[in-house]
Amino acid sequence: MLDRVLIFDTTLRDGEQAPGFSMNAVEKLEMARQLAKLGVDVIEAGFPISSEEDFEATREVAKQVGTVEGSPMICGLSRVGLADIDRCWEAVKYARRPRIHTFVATSDIHLKYKLRKTRAEVLRAAQEAVRHARGYCENVEFSPEDASRSDFDFMCDVLEAVIEAGATTINIPDTVGYAIPREWGERIARIRERVKNVDRAVISVHCHNDLGQAVANSLVGVMNGARQVECTINGIGERAGNASLEEVVMALRTRKDIFGIDTRVKTEEIFRASRLLSHITGIHVQPNKAIVGENAFAHEAGIHQDGVLKEKLTYEIMRPEDIGRSSNRLVLGKHSGRHAFRVRLKELGFDLDDTESDKAFKRFKDLADKKKEIYDEDLIAIVKDEMTQLQETYSLDYLHFVSGTGLIPSATVRLKKEEELFQDSGVGDGPVDAVYNAIDAITGLKGRLLDYALRAVTSGKDAIGEVTVRVDFDGTVLIGKGSSTDVIEASARAYLNAINRVVLPVAQKLKEVGP
Ligand code: KIV
Ligand code: ZN
Repeated sequence: MLDRVLIFDTTLRDGEQAPGFSMNAVEKLEMARQLAKLGVDVIEAGFPISSEEDFEATREVAKQVGTVEGSPMICGLSRVGLADIDRCWEAVKYARRPRIHTFVATSDIHLKYKLRKTRAEVLRAAQEAVRHARGYCENVEFSPEDASRSDFDFMCDVLEAVIEAGATTINIPDTVGYAIPREWGERIARIRERVKNVDRAVISVHCHNDLGQAVANSLVGVMNGARQVECTINGIGERAGNASLEEVVMALRTRKDIFGIDTRVKTEEIFRASRLLSHITGIHVQPNKAIVGENAFAHEAGIHQDGVLKEKLTYEIMRPEDIGRSSNRLVLGKHSGRHAFRVRLKELGFDLDDTESDKAFKRFKDLADKKKEIYDEDLIAIVKDEMTQLQETYSLDYLHFVSGTGLIPSATVRLKKEEELFQDSGVGDGPVDAVYNAIDAITGLKGRLLDYALRAVTSGKDAIGEVTVRVDFDGTVLIGKGSSTDVIEASARAYLNAINRVVLPVAQKLKEVGP
């Protein structure tokens, strides 16, 4: 049995499937690069047959991330249909270490109402699928969907048959989040006793969080012999989500005395991965989320603060640095130079070229004029904003708006496109609406705002505001982000960011973000 737990990240597949979390190929690539830095063992990049876009995204992750020395395995999901498997292989085959993950339901509920197949038919399809996949690659994973509600003996017969056909990992999913830790642990232990050839495959667990047990079930799976855990950053996923990667990894590490086994995840990259995902999807974790929530390391009660000041061990079981989290340190100010700025950015994981660095430095100086104290979070916000803007067709050149009690809000906007300037104005039922109408007048696009969220990046009245919008352009729904100390400017940047995603085709973007 393996002497460590493999981390199979399915943020880009099961996570991305959840409403509000969809990512395009460019975003998946950015996330996949961070997952590789994090040191996960497997990246499940998508479900290639599900759409052309998912196929392309999986293929690009395989080509651009999976070909780098020491990169994680790149996996694609497929049903047991042979055409599904062919399509999956077409997407993952570029990776140095590709994996095909095929699945079929084994519970009677699914067989009767969804698949309308007999147990014998399902067993045969599963075995044929794995044999077919093994024709393509050495690394094949099989999942009996709805395992927690499947007849135990039938599920074990299927597992034995697929291992016989060449499955190298058998993944046991609690698809509907129904299992309770003790019974789940027993189920994994009993699989090890009942499936004769089980030693030829790695046992994996894949737990959903409908009853809030996903992480507990994953850990109890490990205690009973599972050596792969399937999980997602921030616990995103169908319905209540999947087991959260950061919680599983930090529990194994912090309580090694109990589990006696660890992962190879570089935990100092956890916080960055969590924030990157929030930035890409525009959905932030709740403040009290374990490990990565805003309050996860904040000691508020006087008695706790007193204890921590005397000795951190009194109330701290992990250090913020263990997950790569700085303590909101004051870093730079008005008089900081270009060198210090660049060094700090490098420490934060941003390796900018000269053009990017110059632009970001200018934004930093502008910010330093407005805001006395500049924190890491501020730097991250402006650099992310600048890096996004560099790929933009339209950029904001000038903005003026008037609003107030008894006034009709109006705005004038000037945009730059390929060195040419375009100006127009608009009115609206608020300053944001007026600005968006002015932008629509210039670009000729009419976006329908589905969602608008504003968040302060740090504390204080002078904090940077980060705006995330979800905009519908004739049926294409896109997310846009922008930040500034002026929330109307941040709103304009966010809307423009969404517009730039419409006007720049994905194929072109893929080229731009190539290695
Ligand atoms: O939850 C589930 O059953 C799945 C399978 C495809 C593994 O996501
Ligand atoms: Zn799942």
